[in-house]
Amino acid sequence: MTEKMSGDEFLMLVRRRRSCRKFKSDPVPDELVEKILEASRWAMSGANGQPWEFIVIRNQATKDKIAEIFLNARQRVFAVERTRVEEVRMPAYTHRPDQVPSLKGAPVVIAVVGDSRTLQASVLSSNFSFGEGGAGAGYYKNMANATQLLCLAATAFGLGAQWVSVSSWEESLKALLKVPEELHVPTLVPIGYPDYKPAPPYRRKLAEIVHHEEYDRSRFRSGDDIYNFLADLRRRTREAYVHGI
Ligand SMILES: Cc1cc2nc3c(=O)[nH]c(=O)nc-3n(C[C@H](O)[C@H](O)[C@H](O)COP(=O)(O)O)c2cc1C
Repeated sequence: MTEKMSGDEFLMLVRRRRSCRKFKSDPVPDELVEKILEASRWAMSGANGQPWEFIVIRNQATKDKIAEIFLNARQRVFAVERTRVEEVRMPAYTHRPDQVPSLKGAPVVIAVVGDSRTLQASVLSSNFSFGEGGAGAGYYKNMANATQLLCLAATAFGLGAQWVSVSSWEESLKALLKVPEELHVPTLVPIGYPDYKPAPPYRRKLAEIVHHEEYDRSRFRSGDDIYNFLADLRRRTREAYVHGI
């Protein structure tokens, strides 16, 4: 890539990024981790509140413990998931999850820590709104932006990355990483050199998702359309989860 990245090179980078769920044990140099974090530091945030901080985890015992916490929580997810019609079930849950190679095997795991007190940078009215206009939604959008840039920057530097959503296991994770009570950890991003070729990507076509000037109601999808989309999506993306979630 030339020093001055063209628009087309940027598009190539965006298309090249794939979720990577298994990594080689080869170490990732500190300078690369720092550059990836530097990219994320430049993420957009509402009113520039910058809620993010990062914990760079390399210690194997800590990664093993994270994987254990994750897998325990996944047993309930699996129980619920298997009650779904099989053709729309998340492919990572065709069987009981018993390993998570990405969290255990990535040389580096970045915990994305958020401080929701920074939302006070934004307009006062967002504190009185719920849903989309509300402060909570803005907070998670900010954290998502930082997470996405970590993944994109990892790709730019020849690495792979995975977006791991933290859910019911957040408190256990916070205790392990000694994250203060007031803060959150919405995502983890394992980073390393991919140990396999991730499955081919799938995205809906541009013509299906772009409207001009106003929403073209004739293309509004029915409930059946959405169900068929989900079944098709699961067929197309099954291979992406060969190494679990
Ligand atoms: C909000 C959000 C949550 C996600 N959670 C997870 C996750 O917990 N585990 C995981 O392996 N991937 C997770 N992903 C990654 C998506 O599964 C992935 O981006 C999508 O399947 C498209 O595949 P690609 O990243 O290879 O293009 C998440 C992505 C987003 C934006």
